[in-house]
Amino acid sequence: MKRTKINRLNGYDTSPGKVLIKGWVRTRRDAKGFSFMEINDGSCLTNIQVVANSDLPNYTAIQGITTGSAVAVAGDMVASPGKGQKWEIQAAHVDIISLAPETYPLQKKRHSDEFLRTIAHLRPRTNKYGAAFRIRSGMVHAIHRFYREKGFFYLTSPVITGSDCEGAGEMFRVTSLDPDAVAKQGKMDFARDFFGQESNLTVSGQLSAEMFALALGDVYTFGPTFRAENSNTSRHVAEFWMLEPEMAFCDLTGNMDHGEELVKYLVNDALTNCTDDMNLFSRFVDKTLSRRLDTLVSKTFERISYAEAIAILEKSHKKFEYDVRYGIDLQSEHERFLAEEHVQKPVFLFDYPKEIKPFYMRINDDGETVAAVDLLVPGIGELIGGSQREERLDVLESRMAQMGLPKEPYWWYLDSRRYGSVPHSGFGLGFERFLMMVTGITNIRDVIPFPRTPGSIDF
Ligand code: 4AD
Ligand code: MG
Repeated sequence: MKRTKINRLNGYDTSPGKVLIKGWVRTRRDAKGFSFMEINDGSCLTNIQVVANSDLPNYTAIQGITTGSAVAVAGDMVASPGKGQKWEIQAAHVDIISLAPETYPLQKKRHSDEFLRTIAHLRPRTNKYGAAFRIRSGMVHAIHRFYREKGFFYLTSPVITGSDCEGAGEMFRVTSLDPDAVAKQGKMDFARDFFGQESNLTVSGQLSAEMFALALGDVYTFGPTFRAENSNTSRHVAEFWMLEPEMAFCDLTGNMDHGEELVKYLVNDALTNCTDDMNLFSRFVDKTLSRRLDTLVSKTFERISYAEAIAILEKSHKKFEYDVRYGIDLQSEHERFLAEEHVQKPVFLFDYPKEIKPFYMRINDDGETVAAVDLLVPGIGELIGGSQREERLDVLESRMAQMGLPKEPYWWYLDSRRYGSVPHSGFGLGFERFLMMVTGITNIRDVIPFPRTPGSIDF
């Protein structure tokens, strides 16, 4: 609990040794001559118990305080004679800021995650979601700290773009054209649209990050990205946050080293700085969490090539829904087998066939594979996707031509290979998938404040 900054409560001055707290009532019960309240102000998991004596002038009103109400309490912090808490507040003054009616949906009982999704505006007031979103905030700070300590520069890449980074993902169109007029004309006249051409919400800040890596050396972008895939899974949302480091003078090995260091740093930070909130998850949400995270920070991540992975899958004699052969895009059942059953820890897969990867990945000397890398994690599947980038102008141009990509919209991207091109690498880490890994929460909708998924835009 935080002591509030305002040290005045309806004329009651809190002198030294006194406390003043403001928060929401989780429960209240009456005993002979007393009313006990559990108050939480959202700053941490633990409630503070308040004891209100029947000689308080507004005791009758205090007895009407309901779960969900907001109160301010001034009084003395004293050692608690009762069980379950070290300290309690002996109230000298209870101010009722607002009374919640009995319809307050978060009465004290266990609620399902599905139900809580329907009241996403209230769920951060529960223990589990309060903890999840404090950890989310802690991890954002840790990301910036990590990169600041390493001397990376933070780049904010644009949310509206005219280019399609992945060349594959479905995108959300951005337009200011009147839908009725478009319907009448039967097509969109992009020349008359706001930007004078097709534009979309970004699927990745990578291309911007590359330009800045080739100027500032080591950079990262971290912001919202959007995908209009109609995949209603527990691991996909339409709007998610992606962390994308991009490093000049860095090859694929350096890229993997960096990813491993980053993930370990962040997990260590959660275990060290979010201890109480993390304990909730290891005790009540996922009993294997502590063991999994300990393995993750203490063991070296495995690194195997795509070709080796295919051989492992073929030799496994496991029945997969999708057949395994060289050249396939791995399905999540394959990825999970590799991480969860085969190596039983995070594993980098690298050197994928070029046919299944985007144009910007660097062609390896074999001419067949590209220097791509994915990090697969037990329980999550793909956490990171990245590559070493093709820095050779001629190779990049011929790859784009083979893939039928026009040069014109990428003139600036190609310029970066014309002027001072250097080997460089980077990746994208899905921030929500990372939070699932850290908390043991199994549905991505439950680690994001207000999830956006097909058919759902409430809140
Ligand atoms: O593998 P992806 O598509 O990589 C890129 O977009 C690269 N341009 C990044 C780069 O190299 N700078 O996406 C990166 C990560 C995935 O590994 C996954 O963790 C997450 O983003 N991700 C999603 N998370 C939630 N919902 C979705 N629909 C996601 N799609 C990808
Ligand atoms: Mg990927």
